[in-house]
Amino acid sequence: MTAFPRYVGGPVLGIETSCDETSAAVVSAAGLLGHVIFSQDAHERYGGIVPEIAARAHLRQLDDVVAGALGEAGIAPDEVAGVGVTAGPGLIGALLVGLNWAKGFAYARALPLVAVHHMEAHLYANSVEAADAEPPFVALLISGGHTLLLHVPEWGRYHLLGETRDDAVGEAFDKVARTFGLGFPGGPEIERAAREGRAGVHHLPRPMLSSTDAPGDAAWLDFSFSGLKTAAALLAEDLRAKQGASGLEEAVPDLAAEFQAAVLDVLVAKTRRALELTGCNRVLLGGGVARNGRLRERFAAELGGARLHVPPPRLATDNAAMIAHVARRHLLLGQQARLDLNADPAYPFPGLEPYGPTSSTTPSERGGTVCTRS
Ligand code: KG4
Ligand code: ZN
Repeated sequence: MTAFPRYVGGPVLGIETSCDETSAAVVSAAGLLGHVIFSQDAHERYGGIVPEIAARAHLRQLDDVVAGALGEAGIAPDEVAGVGVTAGPGLIGALLVGLNWAKGFAYARALPLVAVHHMEAHLYANSVEAADAEPPFVALLISGGHTLLLHVPEWGRYHLLGETRDDAVGEAFDKVARTFGLGFPGGPEIERAAREGRAGVHHLPRPMLSSTDAPGDAAWLDFSFSGLKTAAALLAEDLRAKQGASGLEEAVPDLAAEFQAAVLDVLVAKTRRALELTGCNRVLLGGGVARNGRLRERFAAELGGARLHVPPPRLATDNAAMIAHVARRHLLLGQQARLDLNADPAYPFPGLEPYGPTSSTTPSERGGTVCTRS
């Protein structure tokens, strides 16, 4: 065999091991048939993900996780008709475990294999269960490693509107939670603490929301969370110095509420700018931070009537359902990997190009509109 064979339909097995979730799923024309997510808890005591521990844990779990997904789907290994796997971006050691497992499985059974880009899969996560979560839309992908604001005229064509210049949103949640003495992952911890506190008691900056910026300025749609993270850490340090550890502990709910409000003010404002710029009136959220309940409330209320697609919580954080789903779509289009497929921690987003007059357009868009208002 010199290449993986072509896909001719049938159940697709998806594998995800890019970070600290070991996950497998089976998707067919009927939808999601089986799905197992094993979230590694071995990292909690280190306050962050330890790449080597993640890779070893994937190795230990993956067989069982795949068996679980196939069992839930009621499918024997022989009945799998195609395989999709996250090839990047992610932690190299972690990616290699899933990728080599998938390659071996596909090669031994003469099945088609397709490489999946992790962030493209986050884009598709909504459409696993919501048939109408289809382009055109503005997408905000907010995860532990990425913050991307995209215009998506159709699947496979992604116009980059804005991105973070330093930390990703989820990364900021995780690091700030640590300076507040909260656990890992920090996003859910900050959300929980913020529910007991009030924004505005302390003040944190809203980065890159300068009122003097205008459309076309480089900073109009970009993000930066590193300064906000430092400001939150300095605030916590100051409180500890003045009021001791117990004073800081008492202030954490108000600090968490203010930090969360600062992040959400920025995310909502930039998304509104993206809607204005593109003429879209639909927004799709993806990535782990999209689990945040306050974020969902604010996006639902503050987008001026634009339609909002939010993934179910289980499909917002890392999962293989989105991998299997995008893999099946790509296999149906005839895409597939070569035998020399390798993991790439910096795998480029396929189809990503800058937004603007140079973006590739379809005939219907050449009149100037790049997003229908449907
Ligand atoms: O998409 P994801 O599972 O993994 C990556 O691809 O990075 O996202 C993980 C990130 C973590 O930074 C985590 O703190 C954040 O999502 N997160 C949240 C919430 N749940 C998870 N951030 C804010 N609020 C949440 N409820
Ligand atoms: Zn992810």
